[in-house]
Amino acid sequence: MSKILLGVSGGIAAYKAVEFVRLAVAAGHTVRVLMTASSRRFIGAETFEGILGSPVLTSEFEKDPLRGSFPGEQLPGHEPIGHLALVESADVFLVAPASANTVAKLAGGQADSMLTTSFLACEAPRLVAPAMNERMYLDPATTRNLEVLSERGVDVIEPGSGSLASKGEYGIGRLPEPAELLRRVESALNGDLSGFRLLVTAGGTREPIDPVRFVGNRSSGRMGFAVAERAQARGAEVILIAANVNMATPAGVTRHDVETTSELAVACEDHIAGSDVLVMAAAPADFRPVQVSSGKLKRTDDFLELRLEATEDILATLSNRAAAGQTLVGFAAEHGGDAEARAREKMARKGVDMIVMNDVSDPRIGFDSSVNAVTIISSSETVEVEIAGKHEVADRILDSARLIHLKKSR
Ligand SMILES: Cc1cc2nc3c(=O)[nH]c(=O)nc-3n(C[C@H](O)[C@H](O)[C@H](O)COP(=O)(O)O)c2cc1C
Repeated sequence: MSKILLGVSGGIAAYKAVEFVRLAVAAGHTVRVLMTASSRRFIGAETFEGILGSPVLTSEFEKDPLRGSFPGEQLPGHEPIGHLALVESADVFLVAPASANTVAKLAGGQADSMLTTSFLACEAPRLVAPAMNERMYLDPATTRNLEVLSERGVDVIEPGSGSLASKGEYGIGRLPEPAELLRRVESALNGDLSGFRLLVTAGGTREPIDPVRFVGNRSSGRMGFAVAERAQARGAEVILIAANVNMATPAGVTRHDVETTSELAVACEDHIAGSDVLVMAAAPADFRPVQVSSGKLKRTDDFLELRLEATEDILATLSNRAAAGQTLVGFAAEHGGDAEARAREKMARKGVDMIVMNDVSDPRIGFDSSVNAVTIISSSETVEVEIAGKHEVADRILDSARLIHLKKSR
């Protein structure tokens, strides 16, 4: 389990930090607490020390009896510099509650206490959960300070709305509940897609003409495999449905192989229920022979006429079946001209949340290429991803899908 450094600053919501520590310990994590001097007027250090059995630190000049180690760890033989040793050892640093004053100090890079000095020196993921009166929260100074922290990669946990500490006041500024804080800390530890279940399709389906021939397309499956691999690495649980892809299964991903569009449709329907995000990167064959010959067709010197019928529209069917909180991502290979307008039209027609469009007339990106360039289109934004490796493109697709999904499930 993980080592969590918790910074507590001066606000009424400091009492919630106690419950956070209790939950974190119950979940198997170890915790060290740093309190600002003001926060000790709201809650006693003894409360944390009682739960954790380890000392709370406030001043950067204090000697740490644990010499920068976490509960259960062996103490180093020398006396290290407290704030540096602690952050080197920590897996994650959460400041909750973060007062307006502490937010301002962290944004300004000040280092005048154990909490602020450690925060500045910390290279582990950092999260800040502001909690304050609505007017303090909405003041442009605080807004800007939180933006600065976000720009530096700090995960700012948005406060909730409701009744505030000061009598009769209502508004935004409440510290989220401790269980939610723990969920965010665990997401930061495990990757930003932890807790997400993804269903990814990849490759191109094949529709048999006879036992040896088929109608198919040139999709290699590389893009879908890259999405599955990156999603898994970022903490998601991933099911990958592969249509005729001759590539190794990314580690930790559950794979199902299919051949035809019908099989792909059935596999998607089987797995849609448990999925949060569906990334439909496979290229289904749009037509299949009306009749499949059971024996190999003999070569003739004149014509062979094949009658083709449309296959099922998997994307449209899934979008009809998708539950309200599910996010559906489609792909569109467009050819020159007003490709973006056509992709937008497809997004509306198929009822999907996001379309990843690539212009297959672009000579730099072939079907079997290891690079891609895409335009990610949703109702709220259009993101151009210039030519890049498929893993990088996959990350950008996942970034957008994650944001859309979080908005939908709020
Ligand atoms: C009763 C009381 C409640 C307070 N509640 C908050 C609060 O919820 N959020 C906040 O940002 N400041 C709050 N403050 C103000 C901070 O305690 C004050 O700005 C303090 O200097 C913060 O110091 P610190 O950031 O070093 O902990 C409160 C002050 C008092 C007296």
